[in-house]
Amino acid sequence: MQAATENLSIIRPDDWHLHLRDGEVLASVVGHTAQQFARAIIMPNLRPPVVTTALALAYRERIMAALDKAGVEPGRFTPLMTLYLTDNTSADEVVRASESGMVHGIKLYPAGATTNSDAGVTDLLGRCAKALAAMQRVGMPLLVHGEVTDPAIDLFDREAVFIERVMLPLRNAYPELKVVFEHLTTQDGVQYVQQAEGPVAATITAHHLLYNRNALFQGGVRPHWYCLPVLKREKHRLALLEAATGGSGRFFLGTDSAPHSKGLKENACGCAGCYTALHAMELYASAFDSVGKLDQLEAFASLNGPAFYGLPVNQDRLVLQRTDYVIPQELPLADSTVVPLAAGESLGWKVIA
Ligand code: NCD
Ligand code: ZN
Repeated sequence: MQAATENLSIIRPDDWHLHLRDGEVLASVVGHTAQQFARAIIMPNLRPPVVTTALALAYRERIMAALDKAGVEPGRFTPLMTLYLTDNTSADEVVRASESGMVHGIKLYPAGATTNSDAGVTDLLGRCAKALAAMQRVGMPLLVHGEVTDPAIDLFDREAVFIERVMLPLRNAYPELKVVFEHLTTQDGVQYVQQAEGPVAATITAHHLLYNRNALFQGGVRPHWYCLPVLKREKHRLALLEAATGGSGRFFLGTDSAPHSKGLKENACGCAGCYTALHAMELYASAFDSVGKLDQLEAFASLNGPAFYGLPVNQDRLVLQRTDYVIPQELPLADSTVVPLAAGESLGWKVIA
């Protein structure tokens, strides 16, 4: 007798934190995200970074062209653009961004915190006061990479120290500013977001829900598990899993899928970033399933994000099937390849529609 198939149908999800890159890499990856998600917040850390509305709109056109070229039907996927905050972002630029209707957030990269962040902010409260005041006024969310860059602070403590040194003073100075703590990785971060007053939310990646830092070193150094913020201890993973599946509207899906070529990852100084766009919903479903909370997946993936950003919920649906799915070893990436997270391993879910 054949076992009955088990399907899980949810409102089509959105990805609230995604790196699409540009040029041939963009062309290689955009179809994966469009396959699963209706919308995504597109990170602005290109080289050079997307620092103006004009640059964001031009980048949006390149994404639309890439979608068309990849055969994605018109209207199926909408990129939600962001700007890259610098010490020089003006209040006028914030207003232009807001009035464009296409820019949905401004991203704070502390200078030097991660991939392509050299142009980032050196002193948020000191240098960005005018931009932050304008963002608070027009309701433009600040998306934060929440890690200090102080080399004296242990890599694994940088999120907790960021809360003390940056988040608390920021929230005191701009209590109505909408803030998304991107790719939250610690129990400290979860507690902060749960207890903060005012409009504060957080995205959580699939890899931080599924893996702790042991994954980086299992059997040797494994560069495809290296991302920033880096994977943390098991107690932090458990806190994230509880937050994501616990029914709070403050936590929502953001893959932080960040493609780097195989050669740049498997390298003496390998790049940070995990590629999860191909199998994002399979990874999230596996994480939720691991704690018997599949019933919470729709809120996390499809409802909480639009509510925070003030956008409508998607109309169509995504269907996952409980079945064995083996993650491919490599995928084309421009003239190279990218190794998806957990390549060659199997998951218990597959997106079928
Ligand atoms: C991201 C990238 O490669 O652009 N890398 C990563 O490890 N997450 C940058 C970022 O989001 O920190
Ligand atoms: Zn990112």
